[in-house]
Amino acid sequence: MRIDVITIFPEYLEPLRVSLLGKAADKGLLSIETHDLRQWTYDVHRTVDDTPYGGGPGMVMKAEPWALALEAVTASDDAAQPPTLVVPTPSGRPFTQAKAAELAERGHLVFACGRYEGIDRRVIDAAAETMPVEELSIGDYVLAGGEAAVLVMVEAVARLLPGVLGNAESARDDSFADGPMAGLLEGPVYTKPSEWRGRSVPPVLISGNHGAIARWRRDQALARTAANRPDLLRALDPETLDKKDRAA
Ligand code: ADE
Repeated sequence: MRIDVITIFPEYLEPLRVSLLGKAADKGLLSIETHDLRQWTYDVHRTVDDTPYGGGPGMVMKAEPWALALEAVTASDDAAQPPTLVVPTPSGRPFTQAKAAELAERGHLVFACGRYEGIDRRVIDAAAETMPVEELSIGDYVLAGGEAAVLVMVEAVARLLPGVLGNAESARDDSFADGPMAGLLEGPVYTKPSEWRGRSVPPVLISGNHGAIARWRRDQALARTAANRPDLLRALDPETLDKKDRAA
């Protein structure tokens, strides 16, 4: 997968080079490039923003630098297989695990990080004529710009790419993933030693009884979901709950 990020703060995206994502890049599974939007400004002040039409507070990012930047980073794409433009914005649709899985299927993602009050709308409308555009929000709060949201989204997408996670199983039971625990939050986990500062690991986990362990894990997931995200529990299809779930 190829990922391009356009921003006025390229250094903000440096974390993309470390840890899981850095390793994925080293393995050739992912190539990530960041681009400074100001490369596509031609005035002495390298201006990227201006006052909003209609008045109001703040500044709006100008259309022309964005159009030139998008043209440059998409120049080598085949018109029949355009990249997907992702615009992080608090007014977008929610970014979810399902959306991460959908984006992980695409070959080329271009992230456009807005700052200030956002990007001139005509840039997004024009781009939508030649490529899919996803305006996405990572949560109901307002960040100073799209960069932190891009870090979140790229990490969520990249760990779903084949070969990125060490253990192919490990994405399957994640909270929010499809799979046996679909729709439930993950329960607690433990490792050695079995006694630590007077606290024991739940005995069922050292019982060797795989059926009992699976049942215990599911009960813990149900309890945690009920406590932390009752909205998720209500949204579960009752068909996916078995008799013991209902009792729990
Ligand atoms: N930019 C500012 N706030 C944001 C949010 N909540 N999600 C995505 N992009 C943003």
